[in-house]
Amino acid sequence: MDTLSIFDRKWKLCTFASLIICFNIILLRLTNLQKLHDAFLILASTSNNYLTSENGELLKPLTYNETGKCNVFEGRWVYKPTGNPLYQASKCPFLSDQVSCRRNGRPDFEFEKWSWEANDCQIPRFDAIDMLERLRGKRVILVGDSLNRNQWESLACLLYSAIPSSRAHVDFREGSYKVFKAKDYNTSVEFYWSPFLVQLHSNKESGTRVLRVDKLDGSSRHWQGADIMVFNTGHWWVHRGKFKAWDILQYHRKLIGKLMDDTKMESAFEIAMKTWANWVEKNVNSTRTTVFFRSISPEHKGENWCFNETKPIKDESSYVPVFPKPLVETVERTITGIKTQIRYLNITKLSQYRIDAHPTVYTTKKDKQLIKSKLKTPEITADCSHWCLPGLPDTWNRLLYASLVLDGSGEEH
Ligand SMILES: *[C@@H]1O[C@H](CO)[C@@H](O)[C@H](O)[C@H]1NC(C)=O
Ligand SMILES: *[C@@H]1O[C@H](CO)[C@@H](O)[C@H](O)[C@H]1NC(C)=O
Ligand SMILES: *[C@@H]1O[C@H](CO)[C@@H](O)[C@H](O)[C@H]1NC(C)=O
Ligand SMILES: *[C@@H]1O[C@H](CO)[C@@H](O)[C@H](O)[C@H]1NC(C)=O
Ligand SMILES: *[C@@H]1O[C@H](CO)[C@@H](O)[C@H](O)[C@H]1NC(C)=O
Repeated sequence: MDTLSIFDRKWKLCTFASLIICFNIILLRLTNLQKLHDAFLILASTSNNYLTSENGELLKPLTYNETGKCNVFEGRWVYKPTGNPLYQASKCPFLSDQVSCRRNGRPDFEFEKWSWEANDCQIPRFDAIDMLERLRGKRVILVGDSLNRNQWESLACLLYSAIPSSRAHVDFREGSYKVFKAKDYNTSVEFYWSPFLVQLHSNKESGTRVLRVDKLDGSSRHWQGADIMVFNTGHWWVHRGKFKAWDILQYHRKLIGKLMDDTKMESAFEIAMKTWANWVEKNVNSTRTTVFFRSISPEHKGENWCFNETKPIKDESSYVPVFPKPLVETVERTITGIKTQIRYLNITKLSQYRIDAHPTVYTTKKDKQLIKSKLKTPEITADCSHWCLPGLPDTWNRLLYASLVLDGSGEEH
């Protein structure tokens, strides 16, 4: 026997031994994995921190990815050919004409099949019953303009369609206040009309409309004590011409006249945001209340015109922002600058892609369906600011829910 073949045999033996060791390690690993998997199942049934994704897989604890918190607002739209909206419009009798695109004759439904997915983690599946459970005995308020009304309608429909209609109470006829109640949960979701958050009032004698940047809207006395608050403002500050809702600004005793350049407008907005922030500091107890601020909902006008669009924008650089950046910066500065923790529903970018999701001409104006009353051209009438429902605001609420699940809300139960 030469040395080479001895070496060869030893080598084979060695390889064989290593294989056995490897095999054992794999076996051990597998049993451990099985144990781990079982443990996950147990946790999944006992702890709310373990959840399933859209396709039912078990997920890691959702609060963190490997490095820290997950930003659910950074991601992409994924087309789901068999995707269904989270509720049927027909099951939601109080859905307004303004946003009931199907009812108003919109022929294409592809816009309902896109799902927002985050880059760094899986967003928990929206579960209306779980959300109601989390909101048991609580009051949710949405305060702001028609875009927050859009979000309220979406949230009310999401929750309403999950319970028997006899167990719900919805009051939606008034413009300034709307409420959805789930009787078995003692939960209410309210909407307060307050497009500036600060006070707008008409002088009785002169009829002059005064916007008081140093004083919060009168409805603020009803905001107090809510458990979850979702604010927005911005759109009405930049309205021009016949859409401008105020004539003069008032700051304490000082009146600021009609002629406003953009810089003055921006400082007025900054003061108003400060007024709001002071109210939050004074009236919100963070142990009990979770405060959200929803970022600007983008419009698709001018170069981004929404008419006839049936697919989301693919390339984000092709969107030309219309909303003034300084106002966005003011909002972000205000909410990060105050002591009370404010959660930012940063939905602007994800909504910018959705040029296909506006009502366009499938809306109503003065109780007339635009598509039937071919009175005016779409250039003038198409609504490229609000959103069809079911539709995009359901995603905003899905992320609101995700935030409650991922980061908890107010007191723990
Ligand atoms: C975790 O999330 C953060 C924030 O979204 C992100 O920067 C980071 O890349 C993510 N890490 C992994 C491994 O996904
Ligand atoms: C229902 O919730 C409200 C707060 O939203 C609370 O004040 C009230 O006590 C609750 N009622 C019951 C019967 O739990
Ligand atoms: C905030 O709420 C908690 C729990 O309800 C309470 O214990 C605490 O005293 C409150 N803090 C203030 C400053 O009111
Ligand atoms: C909108 O689409 C219709 C039908 O495809 C077409 O006839 C019309 O020219 C389009 N209008 C514009 C402004 O793109
Ligand atoms: C909101 O999102 C935009 C774009 O995704 C980002 O540039 C901005 O920094 C975010 N703002 C905050 C306060 O996180």
